[in-house]
This record gives sequence, structure tokens and C-alpha cells, in this order.
Amino acid sequence: MTPPRTDVGNRVRRALTRMARRQALGSEISEQTRPEDLTRAAHAYLGEAPIVIASNREPYQHVNTPSGIEVIRSPGGLASALDSVARATGATWVAQGAADADRQVVDALGRVRVPPGDERYTLQRLWLEPDLRALEYRRFCNGCLWPLCHIVYVRPHFVAARWRAYQEVNEQFAEAILEALGPRPGLVLLQDYHLGLCASALRARRPDLSIVMFWHIPWPNREVYRTFPWRRELLEGLLACDLVGFHIQYHAINFLDTVAQELESHIDHERFAIRRRGRRTFVRSYPISPDAAEISLAASEPWATRAAAEIRESLGLEGRKVVLGVDRLDYTKGIPERLAAYELLLETRPELRGSVSFVQIAVPSRVDLPEYQALSDLVEELAARLNRRFGEPGRPAIHLILRNLGFRDLIPHYVLADVAVVSALHDGMNLVAKEYVAAKVNLDGALVLSPFTGAARELDQAIQASPYDTEALAAAIGRALTLAPEERSRRMKALREVVAGQNIYDWAIKILRDTRRLHLVPGTTRPGSPR
Ligand code: F6P
Repeated sequence: MTPPRTDVGNRVRRALTRMARRQALGSEISEQTRPEDLTRAAHAYLGEAPIVIASNREPYQHVNTPSGIEVIRSPGGLASALDSVARATGATWVAQGAADADRQVVDALGRVRVPPGDERYTLQRLWLEPDLRALEYRRFCNGCLWPLCHIVYVRPHFVAARWRAYQEVNEQFAEAILEALGPRPGLVLLQDYHLGLCASALRARRPDLSIVMFWHIPWPNREVYRTFPWRRELLEGLLACDLVGFHIQYHAINFLDTVAQELESHIDHERFAIRRRGRRTFVRSYPISPDAAEISLAASEPWATRAAAEIRESLGLEGRKVVLGVDRLDYTKGIPERLAAYELLLETRPELRGSVSFVQIAVPSRVDLPEYQALSDLVEELAARLNRRFGEPGRPAIHLILRNLGFRDLIPHYVLADVAVVSALHDGMNLVAKEYVAAKVNLDGALVLSPFTGAARELDQAIQASPYDTEALAAAIGRALTLAPEERSRRMKALREVVAGQNIYDWAIKILRDTRRLHLVPGTTRPGSPR
């Protein structure tokens, strides 16, 4: 039978899009996993079971501006990566509504369809009382769990009232997730350290659910974890999940180790699982990656080249090499260490002065915590010193851009940068490193990467240097700036193969496939494990 005309039209359009994606990615990549592959996998592995994603941070924020309500994408890798997953699976996403116009656009149940203009999934907002949120998010998550897990010599604050706020918020999240799921057995994908106790609250009410937690930040070693007063309660919370995922195997091993130290349990090293009180939790690593094809495609479009030229002109970058940093303004990202290395480079290699400029995009983050205010002041001070010492009139040595850039503003920066520096002191993954590689369609860039990022495990053709070693980092930036074109292309080609071979859809498909392999499909009874 001849397919209807609209079908033919759609198939042609899909084929053209596929072709454009392939061309943009270059010859090093033959075929990428696509959103529709994830859509199919979700159906194949879960049937009609609903999926609920839950995270503290919402993917889209509605904000009041003088020209009306605007929608912005939240900063951070989690929001953008999981947005691709939600779009492809049609999952409901439960998150805290925190922007000033969030309440104005939702229905009576707190729901709004997103992304704006291309509505694919439901965002269900949860409203937390401001004082509770301040104690839980600002004080406990960012002032305690964050430094505890990253181990960058910032002391975590252990305060019982903040821990109680965390417990309360996790209960409220569990309620909202259950509302979003309805009565059917479903899959809950909990995201990150804000929701460490959610699984036990869910499990108590709905033993039929499949619950996966993805912990996006590092998991500390057992000596550091031992200092945490509520260490057993948090582990109990996580062991209520069927599957706990980390970016890298090292953090998965740390997790198993801390459980072995803190709780009476059976550690099954063969299956990488923990059995406790008759139930089993699998532990796995799933390195996350962005949608490399989407980024490559955008970077190869004429608007991106035009925008890159405009930025070059407006920042006075003509005739100069450009070094780029893109981060949330967070002490784990190693921004002062990077600027110190750049300063040393200009000091020791005078021939580079006036021929190179640094562009640092630093997105203000968690501004109400003293550690973050101090960091912000320090970064501004270091940038000012660099410009005093090495800037020329109208051509500063460093441009410090203190704001969040949307996708269309960020891509041209990747396009124009000759070198990107990711110098995190510790990072679960670091998607900026992978995004930069995905954007370098012409192979004309070099990546300097900290070995303390999850990304360094995969991106071994980057120039790796420790942010704790100023001389080594300065030398690495210098080397990246002066790499011979053949070596630069060879390295970038190899990096692009890695990034394109494992995109966000592969990441999600692997997790869904494991829910089936490990007998965790919602509503099914797992062998040897009461639900
Ligand atoms: O990737 C780790 C993470 O904490 C995410 O959970 C979060 O969305 C992102 O960094 C940004 O942090 P925040 O939401 O606190 O601004």
C-alpha cells in the first residue's frame, strides 16, 4: 500500500534532518543515537508505564521582564541533559518552582507544558515554603552535601535543623511524584543529591514502583563520608532505590565502600549490588554526554559563524587567539586556579601578550552563600589584575562575562574559541568539555582538561593538567595555543569520536535497558527480592 502523502513528507524531512546531522558531525561519526531511538527504547522496555523525572532545579524558569513573561533554560548540565530525555520520552518532570513568574503560567495542579513553542512534556512544579527551602537547598544541599562530596578543602557545615529541612523537602517531593504518577506502576528517575531520601518515602507508600537515582556529583571516599553525621540515614534512603547511577566507576566503588563501612549489608561484588533487609540495589556507572549532534549542527550553521564574528568584533578579539572558560561561578570549578595559570603564562611567555585573550563566562550561582560571594569577589579581583598588568586600551587580557548565556549565545563562543580550559578541582562529569568538542566541527580547537573531572576518563586526547599545579596548567594552556594544526585536528577528531559515540540518548537507553535486564521494570516482581 502507498503510504499517505503526509507520511512520505515526514519521512523525507526526517531523512534530511538525519543527513544534516551526519554532515555536521563530520566523517569521524557514521551514525548517532537519536531522540526517536530513545522514544522506541522507552516503549520497548517499559511499555505504557509512566516515567517521572524529579529534580530540585526545574528545566525551564518563567521570569517577569519589562516586556512580559520570558522563559529561560536553567543553567547547569543536569537541566539541559535531562531536558533531551524528557522530550524524547514524554516523561512528567517534577521540580521546584522558584522563578518569579512560575506560578502565573501553571494550571491548578501546578503543571505547564514545555519547552515553549514545542510542547513535548509536562513540568509539574512543587512549591516549597521559602524558609524551608532556604534551610534545605541553600544551607544543607549547597553548604553541606556539596562540599562533602566534592572534597575541595571547603568545610561542610553539619547542622541538625538543616538536615531536618532536607528530610521534610524529600517527603514533599515524594508526595508530588506520587501525584504525578497516578495509580499505575511507573518508573521514577530521581536526579541528584537534593533527593537522597526520596526513594524511601516513595517505597513506603508504593512498593510497586521502579526507582532509579542518578547522583550527578562525585561520591566521596569512606574516610571523608565518615564525618557526615547522618551518613547511615542517607545511605538507607539511597538503598531504597533499585538502581543507583554515577558518572564514573570510581564513584560507584566509593559508594559500595561506604555502604560496606557504615551498614550491615551484603555487598555482591560480582553483580555490583548491595543486599540489605531483603532487597537489592544495583550500582552502575553511566557517563552522561550532551546531544552532540544538536550542538554540532548549530555550530555549523551560518548564524553561529556570523554571531562568532560579531562577538570577535565587539570584544576586540580580531587577530588574537581566544581561550575560553564556561562555568557556574562555583568554587569546585577551579576558576581562580585557571586565571592564576593564565597570568603565569603571560608573565613567562611575553611573546603571547597582546596576541591572546581570555573569555571567561561565569554564571552567578548560589549567591547568598558566603563561600560563593567570596569566590565571586576573588574572580573579579583576579580579572582586574590581569587587565591592569596585561591589557591594552580597548583590548583587555580577559573578558569576564558574569551572566547565564542561552544555547544560541553560547554556541558562537565555542565556535570562536581556539582553546577551552576546564580546570575543575573535582566534577562528577563536566559537560562543558564535551559541548566544546561537539561544537568544534572544523577540528580547529584544543581542550585543556582537569584530570579531576569525570570527562577526563573518556577524553584522553585532551591536554590534561592539574588545576592544583599552576605551572603545569600554564604550560598546558601555552601548549594548547601553539599546537601544530595537524596535531590539533588529530586530537579533536579523536575527541569528537568519543563525544559522538555516547550521547545523552545512549545514556538514557542504557539506564532503561538495565531496568529490564535487572528485572526492575515497573510492576514486575524481581527474582529473590520482595517489592
Ligand atoms: O550538576 C550538579 C548540580 O548541582 C545540579 O544538580 C544542578 O542543577 C546544577 O549543578 C546547578 O546547581 P544549582 O541548581 O544549585 O544552581
